[in-house]
Amino acid sequence: MLSNEVLKETILSNEHFILKDLDYIVPREGISFSEDLKKVNVLYGVRRSGKTYILFHVFKNNKASSMYIDFEDERLDGFNLTDFEKLKDIFFEIKPELIGKKDSIFLFDEIHVVEGWEKFCRRLVEREGIKVFIAGSSSKIMPHEIHTSLRGRSWSIEIFPFSFREFITTKGLDINEKGLVYSSKKPLVKKYFLEYLKWGGFPEVTLASSNYEKRKILNEYIGAMYFKDLVERYKIKNINLLETLWEKIFSSFSKKLSLKAFYKQFKDKLPFSKETLYSYYNHFIESCLAFEVKKFSDSEYVRMRNPSKLYLIDTGLSRKVKSEDNGRLLENLVFLELKRRNVEMFYFQEQNECDFIVKENENLSAFQVTWELNENNKERELNGLLEACKQLKSDKGVILTYDYEDELKLEGIKIDISPVWKWLIIYHSFFK
Ligand SMILES: Nc1ncnc2c1ncn2[C@@H]1O[C@H](COP(=O)(O)OP(=O)(O)OP(=O)(O)O)[C@@H](O)[C@H]1O
Ligand SMILES: [Mg+2]
Repeated sequence: MLSNEVLKETILSNEHFILKDLDYIVPREGISFSEDLKKVNVLYGVRRSGKTYILFHVFKNNKASSMYIDFEDERLDGFNLTDFEKLKDIFFEIKPELIGKKDSIFLFDEIHVVEGWEKFCRRLVEREGIKVFIAGSSSKIMPHEIHTSLRGRSWSIEIFPFSFREFITTKGLDINEKGLVYSSKKPLVKKYFLEYLKWGGFPEVTLASSNYEKRKILNEYIGAMYFKDLVERYKIKNINLLETLWEKIFSSFSKKLSLKAFYKQFKDKLPFSKETLYSYYNHFIESCLAFEVKKFSDSEYVRMRNPSKLYLIDTGLSRKVKSEDNGRLLENLVFLELKRRNVEMFYFQEQNECDFIVKENENLSAFQVTWELNENNKERELNGLLEACKQLKSDKGVILTYDYEDELKLEGIKIDISPVWKWLIIYHSFFK
């Protein structure tokens, strides 16, 4: 059991740190906390995406009524279930004016390290009227693993690296400035967009001042993702298989990945079973490092039989990027933005192909992504979009490009062609 002094000192020093020492927090967009006060807000997602900073931001906005605790803080070594009650009592000792009110906010980071945390959090929200936010990178707080005692009482929010709008905020541009994308700042926006495309949106990478530093940070993340989030977390035994699959996944972004073909190609070289391959692959998906998009079809059988397309959590992590891969990076960025908007996505493949069929509130729309529209690809890209729109019975489609803008009407279908950087900034509320 920890002493009252240690707990009090931890609460107060955290408060001091957040209010006095932290000077720069980029406000995050599109995060909607639960309006049901009886739910624990759970922030999960890839490591270093900014979960802890979101807790800090909530604290700053609710200075008088918040407590932040990081359970991986070495001062709290040995913290156990019985200490929770004590922690709560000390908080109310420090802030007696909150007793009996429903305003208190408890921000718990990496709380999964304390056995039995779910029941305590549940009691706080259900019986004591305290708002609870938890964050962490552990699989224990991810939706598929969250403990049954919290199921139905948790509100999970996936946190991604910075969006482009958040990214350019760090550069001093005001994303709410009217006409930003038409103003004299347009060349700047485009320059930042290429930087974002290349380095991705991890906050620390974004804020690093040199390319050397950015690369170093990304390499550290990659190492930690590999060893901590995969090898250690899932107790991986077949390292050769994991390494080969890792290379394959990180170079197959915005492409289909056929596990069957992978199995055929490598089963004799590395030896492994189909089951092991599928379980390793699922670990990538469960760890939020990569996402899959299935083929658009009414039939579950067709969706399962066809290989999925793969996208990475951040374009800065992609491998083997040559300039001709820019179109794939662009597609991965569009995927991430759609994912942030919490829509369901599929790829379309019939006579022709279309990159995304987006489903939101039962509405279906088609998106095609290409670096540019030129004589070589124009017909193909348009045919894919038109076929998809016709199948969806939609009279509108969108083509996103690096820098080309136009509006067409073909076969009764309106096609809006827009640069991705502009779409990311001004069509922010496209789905809202
Ligand atoms: N909103 C933000 N404004 C400014 N900097 C940020 C912001 N979010 C994250 N950062 C920077 O990125 C770093 C990592 O963010 P943070 O610690 O919040 O990530 P995390 O998701 O909690 O990581 P972990 O999974 O390792 O716990 C921070 O130390 C900070 O430098
Ligand atoms: Mg954290």
